[in-house]
Amino acid sequence: MRGLLLLLATLGHAAAEDGLNAWLRYAPLPNDVRDQAHIPSTIVTLNSTETSPIYVAGQELQKGIEGILGQTLDVTHETSESPSIIVGTIDAFTAAGGELAVPELEEDGFWLSTKDGAVEIIGQNERGALYGAFEYLSMLAQGNFTEVAYATNPSAPIRWINQWDNMDGTIERGYAGLSIFFKDNLIVSNMTRISEYARLLASIRVNGIVINNVNANPVILSDENMVRLGKIADTMRPWGVKVGISLNFASPQTFGGLSTFDPFDERVIAWWTDITDKLYEHVPDMAGYLVKANSEGQPGPLTYNRTLSDGANMFAKAVKPHGGIVMFRAFVYDSVNLNENNWKDDRANAAVDFFRDLDDKFDDNVVVQIKYGPIDFQVREPASPLFAHLRQTASAIELQVAQEYLGQQCHLVYLPPLWKTILDFDLRVDGEPSVIGTDVLTGKRFNKRLSGYAAVVNVGLNATWLGSHLAMSNLYAYGRVAWDPTSDPEAMLRDWTRLTFGDDPDVLDTIASMSMESWPAYENYTGNLGVQTLTDITGPHYGPNPQSMDNNPWGQWTRADANGIGMDRTVWNGTGYAGQYPPEVAAAFESPDTTPDELLLWFHHVPWTHALRGSGQSVIQHFYDAHYAGAETAAAFPRRWEALRGRVDDRRFEETLFRLEYQAGHAIVWRDAICDFYANVSGVPDERRRVGAHPFRIEAEHMQTTGYRVTGTTPWEVSSGQRIVQTVGNSTAAVAETRVPEGEAFPRGQYDLAVAYYDLYEGKASYEIFLNGESLGKWVGDLEDRLGYTLTRGMDGHSATRVTFRGVEVGPGDVIRIETLPQGRETAPLDYIALLPPGVVD
Ligand code: GCU
Repeated sequence: MRGLLLLLATLGHAAAEDGLNAWLRYAPLPNDVRDQAHIPSTIVTLNSTETSPIYVAGQELQKGIEGILGQTLDVTHETSESPSIIVGTIDAFTAAGGELAVPELEEDGFWLSTKDGAVEIIGQNERGALYGAFEYLSMLAQGNFTEVAYATNPSAPIRWINQWDNMDGTIERGYAGLSIFFKDNLIVSNMTRISEYARLLASIRVNGIVINNVNANPVILSDENMVRLGKIADTMRPWGVKVGISLNFASPQTFGGLSTFDPFDERVIAWWTDITDKLYEHVPDMAGYLVKANSEGQPGPLTYNRTLSDGANMFAKAVKPHGGIVMFRAFVYDSVNLNENNWKDDRANAAVDFFRDLDDKFDDNVVVQIKYGPIDFQVREPASPLFAHLRQTASAIELQVAQEYLGQQCHLVYLPPLWKTILDFDLRVDGEPSVIGTDVLTGKRFNKRLSGYAAVVNVGLNATWLGSHLAMSNLYAYGRVAWDPTSDPEAMLRDWTRLTFGDDPDVLDTIASMSMESWPAYENYTGNLGVQTLTDITGPHYGPNPQSMDNNPWGQWTRADANGIGMDRTVWNGTGYAGQYPPEVAAAFESPDTTPDELLLWFHHVPWTHALRGSGQSVIQHFYDAHYAGAETAAAFPRRWEALRGRVDDRRFEETLFRLEYQAGHAIVWRDAICDFYANVSGVPDERRRVGAHPFRIEAEHMQTTGYRVTGTTPWEVSSGQRIVQTVGNSTAAVAETRVPEGEAFPRGQYDLAVAYYDLYEGKASYEIFLNGESLGKWVGDLEDRLGYTLTRGMDGHSATRVTFRGVEVGPGDVIRIETLPQGRETAPLDYIALLPPGVVD
């Protein structure tokens, strides 16, 4: 009996998976594929001790091969005559008598050969050998048994992760639960998840991590935390991942008890030197520090009239004797005094303005970490011009895997196509090729020793790491892009999909096509033509709130009014930002005739009727068309995913379906909010008469209700018809009822029945919908438990959502009735119901 059960368990098509193993599942290949694999029967690890990446590589190879091919290989340290899988550094290999004629390996690089029945995985260093082991396993896991022999080197030495984890265990801009690193102002003592994270990072060749928020709490420097930091470093070291921390510039005063944090004060310097020496006692190979200074309220050297380089160099000198580096963020701007009434004020100018004259002032172990665009991780930005100004100072790009402004992992948005717009951009410094990925960040263009990548990731305790299975392709691709910025987004995606979901061609094609369409779709239904994301910039950065962009000192202005929209960043008439680029690029951005359409409103203030270069369409009509197109793409996602039912294990299938359904609904919230808002601002109607016209909706405020009252939302444009209903009290049941209109509007047939409502946190209202007295289904307003976006308390663009019942048979005169029970602050708010004939997205 037990045998039978076991058999059934292994035969079960797709065991439920929680996502914890991400792309390192080592799932068994089908038998016919396995049969084609001819691999050596021993793994030889050269010079490995239990804490070395080589040892880990041996264990990982053993485990991976067992899972993928069902073969149990021995791991030894002894080389022999018979073919083996040999893993080691080039030095160890040569010392063991191996001969290798390989192209030159750089730091972290490796050689992989599977020729002649043997496998050679030889790293320039131990870390490189581990990367090679993961590469080999990735081939096997994808059923790729071709003979290869090649060397590969990283594009840049710095390939880091930033986590914005707070000491209390929350994560700033984290969408997947609490921190794996901190709890109650202490570093955690259980290292399990940290070790698992290090394993994932090693497999994508990430070699450093800063574990705490850039808005740093000095308590990370407590004695107890230093000891525990040592434990984290010990846990991650075997995976080749070095640990660093973010510092708070004012720590000498707020934590050390000094009267100042002036970087020129001897006591301050001594304090930091002492702290740094102590840290290195616990973490002898600490990667270094990350510093956010004089930005968004953070303290910094400007407080004492010292320059940013004075501040950075103080830390650089402290870590220098230990071999550490200082990542100093270029995200410095004044968020208090910018004034939209001044046509020339521009936050986008800040980084170059602050750093331009400091280029020869930084110590050689300072790396300026520059966000990809000049503002803040928007759906579309031009590349930061600062990359062209730092010729002597080491620099790194900052990307964001956490989808802060890009749907917070509740929307599928595959990011590499966005990153590519930056990495492939040629700044033409001195009229010569200066492509950001291949020339600048490799250090080649300006002969730099240090350069590279950092990505804000913000994984949490959720088993999926990022809150969404599909979002993990972004983390995977980040590592590959940092290794090789010319990596093809779709090819990376297909590798990731095979590793994560297996090689069913339908699964591969569906995930590849949806993901490749996802960022363009998101841009379409959020902010177009370089106007930025149009989300709530003073709040959660999630749902639509275009008016939040203007009339405040945050400097993310659209300058939209009845006449036009866009920031004039020209030199001749605007903020001068275009002139921060080298002359060829500056000249192109100076005129709307030579600015790419997708950045038109970033660089120019134009009338709503301005014709786009590409389509000839007006700006406002493009807004409308893009929003309708984007929402249609998102509406198709759940249907396309649904076709994979049974081909993906149930758990990951259902969890993904749930998010895609949610996204389809929220894309319509976005579409309508942005279209209604700009129709109102511009006064220009949609040529195709879709905006504001919803023939398939029945507004809740027009339904017959008991226990409900008519109210509105803030902002107004996130409700259909500018009105909603919410219950009168917060504990008494309520009802909204309507009769499907008689006449031609809704001939009897199959409809998708959507209900638009608001899901607040601090309460779980319950809903049940009936058709002619028969229940169609129930739901509860519990998105706060099921999705990870930043929560708000109101009926707004974040809480607006929909639920859809597919294929419901409806006809004239039928009665649709929703019975609700409010709870807490959640007053069962309803916006409308929609009866959608097949193919209609509204
Ligand atoms: C954004 C983000 C903040 C973060 C900041 C930064 O503004 O919303 O949460 O602190 O960037 O990168 O420092």
